[in-house]
Amino acid sequence: MKALVLSGGKGTRLRPLTHTMAKQLVPVGNRPILSYVMDHLQAAGIKEAGVVIAPETGEEVKNYLQDGSRWGLSVEYILQEQPLGLAHAVKTAAHFLEDSPFVMYLGDNLLGSGIEKAVRRFEETNMDGLIFLKRVSDPRAFGVAVLDEQGQLIKLVEKPKEPPSDLALVGVYLFSANIHDAISRIKPSWRGELEITDAIQTMMDMGHRVEGEVLEGWWLDTGKKDDILQANAVVLDEYAARSLAGDVDESSTVEGRVELGSGASVIRSVIRGPVVIGRNARIVDSFIGPFTSVGDDTIIQDSVIQHAVILEGAQVRGVKRVEDSLIGRNTQVIKGGNHSDALRLMIGDHCQVEV
Ligand code: G1P
Repeated sequence: MKALVLSGGKGTRLRPLTHTMAKQLVPVGNRPILSYVMDHLQAAGIKEAGVVIAPETGEEVKNYLQDGSRWGLSVEYILQEQPLGLAHAVKTAAHFLEDSPFVMYLGDNLLGSGIEKAVRRFEETNMDGLIFLKRVSDPRAFGVAVLDEQGQLIKLVEKPKEPPSDLALVGVYLFSANIHDAISRIKPSWRGELEITDAIQTMMDMGHRVEGEVLEGWWLDTGKKDDILQANAVVLDEYAARSLAGDVDESSTVEGRVELGSGASVIRSVIRGPVVIGRNARIVDSFIGPFTSVGDDTIIQDSVIQHAVILEGAQVRGVKRVEDSLIGRNTQVIKGGNHSDALRLMIGDHCQVEV
């Protein structure tokens, strides 16, 4: 079993962060989303992964994953020149996949349950496709599946205006080599992409065996700001452990599951977990509330922050309440010394500021 990790695309829904960073590398719990994907491949015993990259962000993805040996994997990079769809990505990777069965994992998806059990189930049967489904309140942004009373898949539709069910297709798929034939038979959709959903439907129409498994655990598609915040909260809730490598002074309180990186210092502050704070961060006269990730080399001073993701090198000073926020690398959010209500801003393209 090989793996195909999709780490391309433009990430338009996560601008401005994605002007300068691949969406799969946006951190939650201070680790890139892609690192959780790689963990799952490793846990499932996969040894060979093809990573599909885009011209704009491919170098950054390569720098992060390197040769994959950190996860016991050998990684081959596959350049997809244009984002022409998930099925197009499979087509582009045909030389890597050969006739092997494979798991396709979208690099911006996070699954609570991992994929080990599904890989075993797929290997033990002679299925051509195994897809994961999750009940969601608004399925219009996803592929949607219809099951019959026995739980067998009947139909799949990509981003329907009127969803025929509340079962969304999760971005993790297991395929036999028969998917290639199905992909060669489909045409681009209204959005100009070769949809994997259409290819799976074609496999079903061709009489191949495709099954759907409804996920009980959590699934997060990290396309937008609120998805990142939710993913961050879920990941911290699940994985944060108490480990204090940095310094906490006597006037500070650190409650619950808090990870404090080496070289970090907490001075006259309160930290209430689950929280992760990166290396060399300085937290001074502040409160860091639950479900917050604070990156390496950050400075938080005279501020209250909760339910937020603060990336590397950012500074927040004198801000009485920062909530539900995603703050990019080396950004400064500072309440000035002036006593007027004037805001002085230098904000990049595609930002969103609520004051
Ligand atoms: C893609 C698939 C869709 C699936 C989703 C999961 O959507 O086309 O069927 O439900 O991933 O993340 P896209 O991210 O291209 O909008």
